[in-house]
Amino acid sequence: MADKEVQTLLRLDSSAPRAESVSRAIGDEVVHRLRQRQPGMQVVNRDLADASLPHIDAPWVEANLTPSEQRSEAQRGRLAASDEELALLKSADALLITLPIYNFSVPSTLKVWIDHVCRAGVSFRYTAQGPQGLLEDRPVYLAVASGGVPLGSPADFASAYLRQVLGFIGIKDVRLLGAERVAADPAVATAAALAELDQWLPKPTTGQAA
Ligand SMILES: Cc1cc2nc3c(=O)[nH]c(=O)nc-3n(C[C@H](O)[C@H](O)[C@H](O)COP(=O)(O)O)c2cc1C
Repeated sequence: MADKEVQTLLRLDSSAPRAESVSRAIGDEVVHRLRQRQPGMQVVNRDLADASLPHIDAPWVEANLTPSEQRSEAQRGRLAASDEELALLKSADALLITLPIYNFSVPSTLKVWIDHVCRAGVSFRYTAQGPQGLLEDRPVYLAVASGGVPLGSPADFASAYLRQVLGFIGIKDVRLLGAERVAADPAVATAAALAELDQWLPKPTTGQAA
């Protein structure tokens, strides 16, 4: 089945360096190819590497556990950043998540974002049949760069984790663009990720309408 048109793309970057980042460069190509199909597409950029999103803490957990109609003003304020991230996530038809593997897992800045969008009763709930994701499924372009770890290997706790946690909240259409072993050869790693991208968003041939 053909993909729905992407009107709004939520882009999350997490590599600490902005320049020379393989994962961000692959993300740029994803945006470029989506724009060729949908020139009016809106891109909402969340650069998590600036670490401006606060960690969740005890008041946050307490506010989250308090039924929404009983929350104090302070508790509503404590959840405001989380509400905002969830609103951006819900209003996007597709996601682009770019990340490096840091210490075998995702950058802590991306983990903080995940902590804010996984909310019982909002993005998931427990039922008699087990956990149920409450968000609508949508395509996720997941551009992962590793220095040496082969993606999908037992040492890659990043891509499997992201599939798991996104699926947990209902988002299962994850499209991995893996640039693995960048330290050995960045050009080869980038080419492999772009070859995977070709499967989802083939480059238009010359002369083809954008
Ligand atoms: C703090 C830090 C930790 C890293 N940890 C790992 C790791 O555990 N495994 C790995 O394969 N590469 C690791 N790398 C290498 C990066 O994943 C690799 O350089 C990747 O290309 C970075 O993505 P970027 O080019 O988008 O910044 C680490 C790099 C940094 C800066």
